[in-house]
Amino acid sequence: MPTLPTPLVRAVDTAMEASVVLSFSRIGYEVRSRLEGWRPLEDLPGTGQRVLVTGANSGLGYATARMLLRAGAQVLLVVRSEAKGEDTLDRLSADLGRDVRGEASYDLADLADLASVRALADRLLADDTHLDVLIHNAGAMFEERAETGDGLERTYQIHVVGPFLLTSLLLPKLAKEAPTRVITVTSGGMYAEKLVTARVDSPGRFKPTVSYARAKRAQVTLKREWSRRFGGYGIGFHVVHPGWALTPGVEASLPGFRKLTGPILRDPEQGADSIAYLALAHPEELGNGRLWHDRRPRSEHKVPWTRHDASEADALWERVGADAGIEPTV
Ligand SMILES: NC(=O)c1ccc[n+]([C@@H]2O[C@H](COP(=O)([O-])OP(=O)(O)OC[C@H]3O[C@@H](n4cnc5c(N)ncnc54)[C@H](OP(=O)(O)O)[C@@H]3O)[C@@H](O)[C@H]2O)c1
Repeated sequence: MPTLPTPLVRAVDTAMEASVVLSFSRIGYEVRSRLEGWRPLEDLPGTGQRVLVTGANSGLGYATARMLLRAGAQVLLVVRSEAKGEDTLDRLSADLGRDVRGEASYDLADLADLASVRALADRLLADDTHLDVLIHNAGAMFEERAETGDGLERTYQIHVVGPFLLTSLLLPKLAKEAPTRVITVTSGGMYAEKLVTARVDSPGRFKPTVSYARAKRAQVTLKREWSRRFGGYGIGFHVVHPGWALTPGVEASLPGFRKLTGPILRDPEQGADSIAYLALAHPEELGNGRLWHDRRPRSEHKVPWTRHDASEADALWERVGADAGIEPTV
């Protein structure tokens, strides 16, 4: 394809971003990847890194693992049972055939169980193997409100408290082995919700999409706090939203949305591309503390009323730390 002038390419990207549907759908991926001439993942500098991916047995996590393995990474799949770990290894091997340069292994954690998150961190800390990238991908939207055994609303625990605990426990290792990075998969759904610390765990009448979007908004706010507090140790903190991709999670939790948007949904690799890109790109290309979509930093707000001030971000940090039972330190 002939190269278009950069201002024109930027204008197309901006127009798609403003439209939401074009940006989030497969159209956004297809137009941007072609117009901008995205580099193949295998050509990025971080291909030999060791990357942990949560929720690696399904949807975007599985696609991320597959793409990273194809590019040459050492991928630690974090799943919820040995059966899922073995099955994921088998599927990756069948899918990739000889088209694999990296190596996969798995470990276990359930983010709805903080003891199991601590146990995973203990194993990783006891292991001398380098960890370059931690990807918090696991997530779910639930029909009903329920509390975990730790006494927290489960959407909030799985997306916010569990990942906060794992990052906190691994912080000394990530700082020691820097440059390293932590990538969290948020959702464009968070654009609809303001951060309200007192309601991030969804008390009152439970609405699945609202609870989910609040948790995803909290991930974006925390990323900025992580990078402000610990970016100086050589750890990059990035958040990425994948747009709309057809995954088992979307099929199960949003059947109406899936029916409405079916033909324009991304496939899982299109949704996961920027997750893998953030894991493999040169740290200087990424800066720190940004929200990404389709390989570019994006605004964290689409409407003014979702903005919050520094004291609200501080309050969230304190609240999540208390719920996770930890004060992060290197
Ligand atoms: N697909 C999209 O269009 C889209 C859009 C925006 C954001 N996202 C985000 O992308 C991420 C992946 O979603 P997906 O669409 O790929 O969904 P998915 O196919 O349902 O995959 C979700 C993964 O998370 C894991 N998981 C769920 N609860 C967990 C827990 N308590 N502990 C550990 N792992 C757990 C699941 O494991 P099990 O198989 O054991 O349940 C599964 O591996 C999520 O954070 C989601 O919010 C997706």
